[in-house]
Amino acid sequence: MKKSFFVSTPIYYPSGNLHIGHTYTTTLADVMARYKKENGYDVFFLTGSDEHGQKIEQKANEVNKSPKEYVDGIVETFKHLWEVLDIQYDRFIRTTDDDHVKAVQKIFSYFLKQDLIYPSEYKGKYCISCEEFLTFEQMDENFCHVVCKNKSIDFQEETYMLRVSNFKKFLQDLFKTNFLEPESRKKEMLNNFIENDLEDLSVSRINFSWGIPVLENSKHVIYVWIDALSNYITALGYGSDDDSMLKKYWSNESEVLQFVGKEITRFHSIYWPIILKSLDLKCPDKLLSHGWILSAGEKMSKSLGNVIDPVQLIEKYTSDAVRFYVINNLPTDRDGNLTQELFEESFNTHLANNVGNLISRVSNMIIKYFDGKLPKIKIDEKHFLVEKGIKTIQEYKKLMDKYNMSEAIQEVLKLSQECNKFIEDSKPWVLEKENKIEELNQVLSILQKNIIIISFLLKPVLTKSYSKMVEQFGVDQNEINFDNLERNEFSYKKIVDKLVLFERIK
Ligand code: MSP
Repeated sequence: MKKSFFVSTPIYYPSGNLHIGHTYTTTLADVMARYKKENGYDVFFLTGSDEHGQKIEQKANEVNKSPKEYVDGIVETFKHLWEVLDIQYDRFIRTTDDDHVKAVQKIFSYFLKQDLIYPSEYKGKYCISCEEFLTFEQMDENFCHVVCKNKSIDFQEETYMLRVSNFKKFLQDLFKTNFLEPESRKKEMLNNFIENDLEDLSVSRINFSWGIPVLENSKHVIYVWIDALSNYITALGYGSDDDSMLKKYWSNESEVLQFVGKEITRFHSIYWPIILKSLDLKCPDKLLSHGWILSAGEKMSKSLGNVIDPVQLIEKYTSDAVRFYVINNLPTDRDGNLTQELFEESFNTHLANNVGNLISRVSNMIIKYFDGKLPKIKIDEKHFLVEKGIKTIQEYKKLMDKYNMSEAIQEVLKLSQECNKFIEDSKPWVLEKENKIEELNQVLSILQKNIIIISFLLKPVLTKSYSKMVEQFGVDQNEINFDNLERNEFSYKKIVDKLVLFERIK
């Protein structure tokens, strides 16, 4: 039986259009999903939209639309973005989907019955923009939320509470494992919340209506975070008549990976495991909490006017260029930067001057010296560059299996650099002049073999260019897989056209 793999992004708020920051998480998940598929896994990749809550209700009011009408329009722009970025998700869940709504109500009712949720009263500070209650550590001296800088409001009302405080020991044990990365975030959660401030969580609202109603008490709607977090399992059929998908993708036999941004790590590493535990489901095998993409050092926000629009970026530079920058240039454990200069410099250095240049030089020489097809010879397996190619495949897999995508890609780029250097050192043009045809054939065959390796390893990132990269050598893209990559027994056809790949940005 195939191994199964589940990967998810957070579900995004349709309170405005998505920016490049959101694109980051989704690209990470998409690249991982594609890699796992290549590696023989049965994959389920989930993304979607988080459509309820006070903020959405307010936004819809501002433009005189019903909340549903309002989110319908924005969700279309989400789907368009994922299409132009070549994101291949298996389900786009909307928290307004019927099956999700019913399942969330079931979860809430079950928790009420189990006395995990109880009626109470809440008094404190609340950030509408983040839909989050704030502790004093989360606010500045003006009671503004330090994450989004918006002023919090005073909040007092009857509410249902979740017994988070019962789960301290469970969380302490969970945090002894490696389920949350990076380590720094784990420490932050332990010190700031688990060991310090583990209070029960208010999980319903009565001051607005755009949410999933509590069946037992129609005055209340379910708190947007309980609604939102549940999406990861309702999308797999939790609470429906058919739980086969859940068994397949969210069980001990499957690998579960979730990507989240740093500011929502608390919800995913504390409340989400509590929900799962209470439903007798396993915690994700890995919760990867990444930093933010900063626009010239600042967090992107509408008020600062520094929001980078991913659709424009894709139109200008292609989806592959955007995917490549996100995976290669941004560290997952810290904040990273994106500016036009950095973007263009990275494209030129890595894609145009390194990989693109290698492909163009080698294919040109095959056309020029061998009329488009290298005579079949036995490649010298002991040659340092052949060995380096094989080692790169192994290193790449090791790193990808640890979800370390940027280092994996950097291994591939290093191989490409070595190939370029090998051209300089072996000087094929001199070999041709001196009529050392066999040696020339050996040199170009080694390079050609490595180019197929480089292209295949970049395939999850460069989804659109990949076919051109290998077809440039007359190899059909469907012929290559991880099983035959090292053997290199592909039917290379005669190359005629010179394609331009990754043209330098001027
Ligand atoms: N709806 C909640 C998530 C619920 S998941 C059960 C939410 N939505 S969001 O639209 O505000 O943000 C979603 C994700 O985008 C978060 O992981 C957040 O970190 C990420 N990003 C938003 N801006 C970002 C950057 N500038 N850089 C990187 N990621 C960013 O939170």
